[in-house]
Amino acid sequence: MIVKMMKKILIIDDDIAVLTSLELLLKNNGFFTLGASSPETALKLLRQDKWDIILQDMNFSSKTSGDEGLELLNNIKAIDPSIPVILITAWGSISLAVKGMKLGAADFINKPWQNDHLLQTLETVLSLSHQSAEAATGSRAKLNKLYNFQGIIGESLAFEKVLHTVGKIAHTNASVLITGESGTGKEVIADAIHCNSSRNRNAFVKVNLGGIPSNLFESEMFGHRKGAFTDAKSDRTGRFELAHRGTIFLDEIGDLTIGNQIKLLRVLQERSFEVLGSSKTLSVDFRLISATNKDLKKLVEARDFREDLFYRINLITIELPPLRERKEDIPLLAKHFVDQVAAEYHLEELAISKTAQKWLTERPWPGNIRELKNLVERTALMINHPFMEIEDFEANFEHAPRLVKDYKLPPVGVMTLDQLEVTMIRNALEHHDHNLSQVAKSLGLSRSALYRRMDKYGIDYK
Ligand SMILES: Nc1ncnc2c1ncn2[C@@H]1O[C@H](COP(=O)(O)OP(=O)(O)OP(=O)(O)O)[C@@H](O)[C@H]1O
Ligand SMILES: [Mg+2]
Repeated sequence: MIVKMMKKILIIDDDIAVLTSLELLLKNNGFFTLGASSPETALKLLRQDKWDIILQDMNFSSKTSGDEGLELLNNIKAIDPSIPVILITAWGSISLAVKGMKLGAADFINKPWQNDHLLQTLETVLSLSHQSAEAATGSRAKLNKLYNFQGIIGESLAFEKVLHTVGKIAHTNASVLITGESGTGKEVIADAIHCNSSRNRNAFVKVNLGGIPSNLFESEMFGHRKGAFTDAKSDRTGRFELAHRGTIFLDEIGDLTIGNQIKLLRVLQERSFEVLGSSKTLSVDFRLISATNKDLKKLVEARDFREDLFYRINLITIELPPLRERKEDIPLLAKHFVDQVAAEYHLEELAISKTAQKWLTERPWPGNIRELKNLVERTALMINHPFMEIEDFEANFEHAPRLVKDYKLPPVGVMTLDQLEVTMIRNALEHHDHNLSQVAKSLGLSRSALYRRMDKYGIDYK
């Protein structure tokens, strides 16, 4: 028999109407609650009994500055620093919530609240506080038994810690901020969180905020009705609506303009928004994951990133280590990428010599896993022997493709990478009159690599 212990919630609010409705809501959802209408009563109850969580209003009748609320929070933390406190603040006083977070509040919600969102927040904070008591142990093999981390390579201690956190927090609704240098696997980790959550049957909506012109942010995120503005030729469903019951992944969140930060904050607070050109308010249920390779704290200090938004998005922060700090994983990753290329291009089995593995391990890898992946793939396609040596990698190292800025590529969405590759091969064939060694040279490929690609795409040799 499974006995679910009833969680005890202390609710502190001087507004009896609020207290009553919160108590009713929480009791109906299986919690044990008690209300306190003044800071003094609250502290008394706190000393008398053990509570799982506290829900605390920030304003008490005499003042509206919130100072009393902050003082109460301080006193609660002095009595029991481990007890999670969720603050309730008015929309206009979000800076107060930020002060509270700095004093150790677990999260905050706004008045008026949405019941579902409030319950979700409670569940999340409760499950996180419960887990932090568990020891952070677990080898990769152990983690694989508990979670689905298929295709994610890494057994270093630094990376196992990351996976351990991912596993622990995946099933909660906590908003997660993933930081790390370019190419460290932020998107891979965001995907893993979604896959291991109960939202995995629903959408994982990825939005690259760095790629959306700032004036199109609202229409992209909230959608628009036909005619909402000059270019709105038809209805468009926004990303938040698409993410309903799923996960929304906001990549490059550090690129958001200040003006759009407030629009995003509002949706995160209210869990609802209006589609442009429509007066209807849509409520959405989503889990937020954000990522950036920028130092958001520095941006906050420079006032380029709103502090309140910062606190809203990072209930959990996952920092991905750069590859140079998890060197043990380099041979594993390299092998994984070689095997992938070999399978994709139907090559014979390839292997990397021990000395080459060591050489790879000693590179600094400023572009992290992506750079390693590119080099390994390029090398695998260029060589015509099965054993990969240092020289093979060296030969391809300098040839890292630099961005060719002078040429205009078709806009994103017009062509896939495969189509682009076919077009480029055909152009080169025409240009060099089907002289295959010249074609291969101009494309930076070996002859055999060119043949493989022509076979793959069914391009005639003549
Ligand atoms: N642990 C891993 N196992 C296998 N492949 C990985 C792993 N981490 C990253 N990769 C691969 O490395 C490449 C870069 O990863 P990803 O796009 O997630 O990095 P990122 O941190 O989002 O980079 P950027 O900051 O440039 O957006 C991808 O091809 C991804 O599949
Ligand atoms: Mg990325």
